[in-house]
Amino acid sequence: MNIVGQIIAGGFGDLLIRQKSNEQLELGELLVTDDINQYTIFQIYDLKYGSQIAKESLEMMSGMNLEGYGESLDFLDPNLRTYILARARSVVTIRKTNAHTPKTLPSFFAHLRKITKEDLSFIQKPAYPLYLGNIRSGSKLMPIDIFLDGQNVFSHHILLAATTGRGKSNLLKTLLWSALDQPYCANLVFDPHDEYYGRNELVLKDHPKSRELLEYYSPEPPAGTKTLKINLSILKPWHFEGAIEFSDAQKDLMYTFYNNFHLEWIENLIISQDEGEFYRKETINVVKRKLMRLLSISVAEDEITCNSIFDQTAGATITDDIIRSLDQSKTVIIDTSALSSAIEILVSSIITTELFSKYKKYRKDGTLNTKPIINIVLEEAPRVIGKEVLQKGPNVFSSIAREGRKFNIGLTAITQLPSLIPKEILANLNTKIIMGIEMQQEREAIISSAAQDLTSDDRNIASLDKGEAIISSTFTKFAIPIKVPFFDDFAKTQIKNNPKEKKAFTGIKF
Ligand SMILES: Nc1ncnc2c1ncn2[C@@H]1O[C@H](COP(=O)(O)OP(=O)(O)O)[C@@H](O)[C@H]1O
Ligand SMILES: [Mg+2]
Repeated sequence: MNIVGQIIAGGFGDLLIRQKSNEQLELGELLVTDDINQYTIFQIYDLKYGSQIAKESLEMMSGMNLEGYGESLDFLDPNLRTYILARARSVVTIRKTNAHTPKTLPSFFAHLRKITKEDLSFIQKPAYPLYLGNIRSGSKLMPIDIFLDGQNVFSHHILLAATTGRGKSNLLKTLLWSALDQPYCANLVFDPHDEYYGRNELVLKDHPKSRELLEYYSPEPPAGTKTLKINLSILKPWHFEGAIEFSDAQKDLMYTFYNNFHLEWIENLIISQDEGEFYRKETINVVKRKLMRLLSISVAEDEITCNSIFDQTAGATITDDIIRSLDQSKTVIIDTSALSSAIEILVSSIITTELFSKYKKYRKDGTLNTKPIINIVLEEAPRVIGKEVLQKGPNVFSSIAREGRKFNIGLTAITQLPSLIPKEILANLNTKIIMGIEMQQEREAIISSAAQDLTSDDRNIASLDKGEAIISSTFTKFAIPIKVPFFDDFAKTQIKNNPKEKKAFTGIKF
């Protein structure tokens, strides 16, 4: 057994370890102490120097060395009197292959060794696996794949937080790829950077099962994919919550038109000239202008022209089609990259609202448990679940964060600014995938709402490299350090191992 250090002081959650000379302990590294019928895994969260020699003497010795009064500091035994100290906390205790929260201190002077693959064999693949990467000890990869319990994790929401460039999108590509052919879940992805389908690069369209299980809606669809068009008849007054602000009087007006004209409320409102019994001319003019501008609608001689993804004829079944695909466990990507932020939020709000009410109905009918779990992916999530928008009132996304799990609908909220999300919503996002976060305030927001105590992990989180993450979840026994694979390599290996099934030639040309 290779001893790398020894416990010399500290207390629960804050052990001091002396590093053995010529070993090199690393921030985030996992170490193990063995006991008679159990072993405990520790993680290093800080490193510092220790010395037996007084500070003044050290300064003088260094001065002599630097200024050339003697090359060698050999009169000290460097290994005995100066050394490195690591601070660590216990992560998990394993007794008979069962993981427990550590409740005892290791014995004084206990030896620590590096973690091995066998030490992690208690980690098992759950019934509904969701692959995220490999377990990691510091920056060293362990040959153990990490699968979360997808059914629980998806339905109880995920927060994915990191500074730009640390690998959020790469992680999501990996997650979506591995979830694509899993019948227990369906993914609805609102994609403002058009990066998950892969028009020009290897992404989800290259999945061996993409033909059956992937759908892509875009205002400019490549061959074989679908046009993103939304019929005006689909729009309802409540879809605008969170996307664009209307005063109470303006909302009343919209509901009045909706109640009177149903599917044609927008057309009627836009061409309406008259003052109504319950509303003033100014109000109708403002609402008209707002709607026309937002939806890019123009009017000439009572004829409406739609100039954007909203349409008078096309796109009447889009929400039904998407919900049907999700019911079949498919992944649906909506390319919103060409849309303005307000329209993008409106589109996500329309689809999500319809989906949510359908799943509420499934629950009422008692058919919910025959449906897959729906995972809704939101990039730049504070735009819809941030403090600022929610101050103006709840919207469908905040309702899902609060009660979606009852209806098997979960969010994957992606952000570089978790502090913009209200605390109570952060607390509802039960799995946090934390990647490198530079800003203290952002680390603080996530640490204070995590399922495990991560207070000592502040430095670890700040120093996470591209692709490195910590998963803290109510569904994991401890905060798991992982390394996400580089998506290109991961996908290529997957394709090599599971090539697309070649269809036998039938002689019929489609
Ligand atoms: N696990 C990883 N291994 C290697 N490179 C990675 C990894 N994750 C991300 N990268 C690279 O880092 C860059 C930024 O990653 P990206 O996922 O776009 O970050 P984010 O979405 O957080 O801004 C990309 O060029 C990507 O290829
Ligand atoms: Mg990104």
